[in-house]
Formats: sequence, C-alpha cells, structure tokens
Amino acid sequence: MTATATDIPLLSIKAQNAALAAELKEAVGRVLDSGAFILGPENKAFDREFAEALGAAHCLGVASGTAALELALEALGVGPGDEVIVPAFTFIATATAVSILGAKPVFADVDPATLTLDAKSAERLVTKKTKVLLPVHLFGHPADMDAILALAKAKGLKVVEDCAQSHLAAYKGRATGTLGDAGAFSFYPTKNLGAAGDAGMLSTGDQSLRDRLLELRNCGRAAGASYRYVRVGRNSRLDEIQAAVLRVKLGRLKSWNESRRRLAGLYAEGLSGLPLRLPPQGGAGTEPVFHLYTVRCERRDALAEHLKRRGIGCGVYYPDPLHLTEPYAPLGGREGQLPVSEKAAREVLSLPMFAELADADVARVCDAVRAFFR
Ligand SMILES: Cc1ncc(COP(=O)(O)O)c(C=O)c1O
Repeated sequence: MTATATDIPLLSIKAQNAALAAELKEAVGRVLDSGAFILGPENKAFDREFAEALGAAHCLGVASGTAALELALEALGVGPGDEVIVPAFTFIATATAVSILGAKPVFADVDPATLTLDAKSAERLVTKKTKVLLPVHLFGHPADMDAILALAKAKGLKVVEDCAQSHLAAYKGRATGTLGDAGAFSFYPTKNLGAAGDAGMLSTGDQSLRDRLLELRNCGRAAGASYRYVRVGRNSRLDEIQAAVLRVKLGRLKSWNESRRRLAGLYAEGLSGLPLRLPPQGGAGTEPVFHLYTVRCERRDALAEHLKRRGIGCGVYYPDPLHLTEPYAPLGGREGQLPVSEKAAREVLSLPMFAELADADVARVCDAVRAFFR
C-alpha cells in the first residue's frame, strides 16, 4: 500500500502556528518596533508568567534546554572530578550537559512502567564523587520524585529535573521543575511549549541559586551591571523575539496539554488488548502531558514499516541507550548492564501526537496498528 494524501504526521506545529499567526506576528513586530532585543521587557514578563504557571519562585529564560541543564549543573558547582547520575534512556543532551562541564555522567537504569530514572538503580551508583541526580520527565511523564528526593536527601545530593518534555506535568499536585533544586526546560519548536527557534528556561526555588544563574547566563556580569564581572560566565540568554512568541503560546499550554491527555485516552482505548505496552495514563498522583505517545512493541521495526506504508508518521525516541552510544561507550558501558533501558531502546515507537491531532486520525492510527496484529 502506498501513502495517501491524508498522511498523519508524527508531530506538527503547522496548525498551532496558523491559528496564532496574527498574534505571533504582532508579538514579533512589537519587539522589532521596540528595538530592545536582549533581556528586555518580554523576558521579564515571560519569566514571571512562566513562574506563575509552574508555581515556581524564580524562572530565568536561557538560550536552549541544553544550556539550561548546563547552567543548572554549573551553578550547583558541578565540575571536573564530579559525577552526575542520569538515566541511560533519554535524549543525549541530558548527559552532554554533564560532560561539557568536565564531570562524568553515570548511567542508571529506568523504571519499566514510566521509563524514567529508577531510584533503586541510581542508589547503587552513588559514590563519594556523586553531586547531582538528574531525573528526566521523559515523554511528559513525571519521574518518581518522592524516591529520588528521598535518595538525594539521604546522600546529600542536589536534584536537577530535566523538564524538556514535561511543561506543566504534575507530580502530587506540583509542577515538574518545582520539586528539585532546579528545573531545566526546552522550548525547541516541537515541544509542548515551543519557540520559533531555540530557547530554554530555568526554574528554582532557591534565591541564591537564581542569583548565580543570572550571572552565569549573562557573561558573569553582576546583576544590573554593564561591565562589572563577578565570575566566568556564558552568553546564554533568551532573546526578546523568542520570549514574545512564547508569551503568546503560554496562554494556550494548559488546553494543549489537556488535548494531548484526551488523545492519549483515545489511544489507550483504541489500542487496548493488543500485544503492546502502552504508556501510563497518569494516576498515582501523576499528571503526564504526553509530549510523545510512545508504545512498546517486540516487533517495533516491522510495525513502524507497516505504519509508514499507510502514511502514518512514527518515530523511535531513542534508538540507543546512552551507555552504548559512540560518545559514551568508552566510559565502559556494555550490553546487558542496564536491561530496562536497552529493551526500551529496542521496543519504543512513538505514534502521532500533537494538540491539534484529529480524533479521526487517532482512530485511523489505531486501526492501522490493529491491522498489523491481525
Ligand atoms: C529530554 C531532553 N533533554 C534536553 C533537551 C535539550 O533541549 P534543547 O534542544 O532545547 O537544547 C531535549 C530536547 O530536545 C530533551 O528532549
């Protein structure tokens, strides 16, 4: 069968941007007219509005999600000789943020139900060199923060949450990014809240950490000073145009997340009874936001081929656990070491998911998946 004109993409931001086109153009035009392009009023307003949406004490716009992770770790003092425990099953930026500071990412396994950091696996890896636990709320599902925070407390570790995929996901009534010492968000264009380019955000409840982050993201300048430097910093600011775009979209984020959750419910019904492992729908105090809708299938590659032939987009996030990737295998990672992550990498397949996806398209995807198993 060949793909038809009614292809269903895996991800799409076209409908979202089309619906908001007039507002987005007005926002960009406002910045152009103002001539204030760096750390101006749009940044201040967006930091405040995002902090309000999260229920965080402080938020700070930065250049990307990767930059947010690097800055959070750097501000917590992570550097050469330190170890940071990260899940093996995640996007590589979670680990490279550690490496770029000269520290060592130590790969832990993930929980088989949620595919997020397994606190028991992490506990076995804590050494005298461990400084930070770095859970990832992968695919928009909150990690088991009670267990992770308890481990951090017991061992005297800091916690940085990778919230690149979990904008407004909640754990026991609190937004991800407000549970650990700092949260790092990505606004890569296809994220649940996406910019028109690269952008990111840091959240923290710690005033002194926030003050260090302010300096670190802005060339080491003392807050409010033009040419007084208090540390070696980076240029990692969120530009005004991105902040203005994100402010337009932030107002819709809640309803977009609700739409994603509803669509996930339709998938759960439509795919029930098949030999697939479906993502958790929430419950047990968690409110996921389905950045991706990721199923697990023993015959993943054949299913992906089958769907693509029917014009249905799907994708593998992520094909390799990080301890077996080219940059990290030299640290000594071997097959069989982290079985849940390795199995997940063999079996995951993400199905179409974005807020504007039509119910009829979800039904068509479910029919196509059912046909595969017949
Ligand atoms: C889990 C995770 N961490 C970190 C990042 C890095 O974010 P960015 O692409 O904005 O640098 C991403 C985004 O792709 C991600 O999905």
